[in-house]
Amino acid sequence: MKSIGVIGLGVMGKNIALNFLDHKMEVVGYNRTKSVTEEFLQEAHGKFKPAYSLEELVKQLPSPRKILLMVSSGEATDSILKELSPKLNPGDFIFDGGNSYYKDTNRREKEMKALGFHYYGVGISGGAKGARFGPSIMIGGDQIASLEFMDLFQEIAAQFNGEACCDYLGPQGVGHYVKMVHNGIEYADMQLIVEAYLLLKKVGRFNNQKIAEIFESWNQGKSKSYLLEISSKILKEKDEKTGLSLVDFIKDKASQKGTGKWVSIESIEQEVNASLIISAYQSRVTSNDPRRIIVSQQLPDPKGRDIDSIVFAQEVKKAYYLGKVLAYTQGFDLMKDASEKYQWNLDLAKVASVFRSGCIIQSALVETIMGLYQKNKNLRSLMEEELILTEIKDKVQSLRVVTSMAVLQGVPTGCFQSALGFMEQLRNVHVGANLIQAQRDYFGSHRFERIDEEGEIHHEWEN
Ligand code: 6PG
Repeated sequence: MKSIGVIGLGVMGKNIALNFLDHKMEVVGYNRTKSVTEEFLQEAHGKFKPAYSLEELVKQLPSPRKILLMVSSGEATDSILKELSPKLNPGDFIFDGGNSYYKDTNRREKEMKALGFHYYGVGISGGAKGARFGPSIMIGGDQIASLEFMDLFQEIAAQFNGEACCDYLGPQGVGHYVKMVHNGIEYADMQLIVEAYLLLKKVGRFNNQKIAEIFESWNQGKSKSYLLEISSKILKEKDEKTGLSLVDFIKDKASQKGTGKWVSIESIEQEVNASLIISAYQSRVTSNDPRRIIVSQQLPDPKGRDIDSIVFAQEVKKAYYLGKVLAYTQGFDLMKDASEKYQWNLDLAKVASVFRSGCIIQSALVETIMGLYQKNKNLRSLMEEELILTEIKDKVQSLRVVTSMAVLQGVPTGCFQSALGFMEQLRNVHVGANLIQAQRDYFGSHRFERIDEEGEIHHEWEN
């Protein structure tokens, strides 16, 4: 029988423990707070072996031990490692299943390796339900040291056409890097759906029920996605207290736990444009801005316009899909760039294959992306693929129509606007960077290149 220790029995930890138990594995569970372990023991009908100290956990596991950390990222992970590592033997395996920052995982992997342990950063996506019944799992760390450990995760992972959505992706913190970018794409796709909802509500004048039906109709064929599916269900949900639409009673300010911020910062450091992800992140930040109250009191909505709602909804569908294509493209381009920078040799077809089921961004588009990278392993960017270019050509006008309508009617659509801005910058032969270079040279003698000569020159602008 395979055995695994799970440290941290919060929502994700206990659900993953139940998942291991379902697959006939022996689980030793530990939580810092004793009552949490006891409660879970009751919930699991005594099926796992409780440990009330790390010593007990370590003692109950056969060698080489396999221990999965399901604790909060950051200090909590470092502190548990500090306590745990002196109790382990060289050759034991530690897996960090939290949403750790990949640079922390790089560091920890080095530290743990120096102590003789096998250390892996394991990105796990799919929320509580995924953890319970089949998450998507992204593993990074030392070259696979034991097939047996891969089996542990492959068995509990989501399946897609009989294939486990779980893979070893590369060295160091790659698993957590990929999970971070997954979350960035998740932020962008969520925000694009939000903006489509606002447009359908404010410009199209549809009610929640109708928007739910529209989303349901979008959720097939190439637009099919888990996020669209749940958004449709959310919009249909009634509030028990009032009988009205529940979503209208939820405070209009979004929370976040950090991965969206990390990926935004990362894209800036890598100098890869991930404008849709950054815009989605900023929208969450601004939703919490207290200035919203003052400004919204001063500035009423611009006058509405008469439009054909049905035709408009079709345009929003196309604009949404294009935004989504661009967001995924930005995310995959980011991974490609990091892989080259850090020499990770990341196989993006494999990454897409892991995203096919179990994770939050599972969608038909992910399957298409997998096919494109399978066909061409050296693809520099999805943007270079005929299929993606055709989507852009087909839908860019809808994105323009929808965005201009949003602008005229004052609908907050930062992500749609970022998508269009990004697209127009790529499409235009002339983007004005010549004037930037001239300005830089004017005030700072930073030099510029001429189109008709080699080399950099400075011009005396004030003579
Ligand atoms: C997933 C989710 C998961 C979690 C996010 C929430 O893939 O299962 O991304 O990891 O829901 O961390 O992130 P925010 O709190 O930042 O929205």
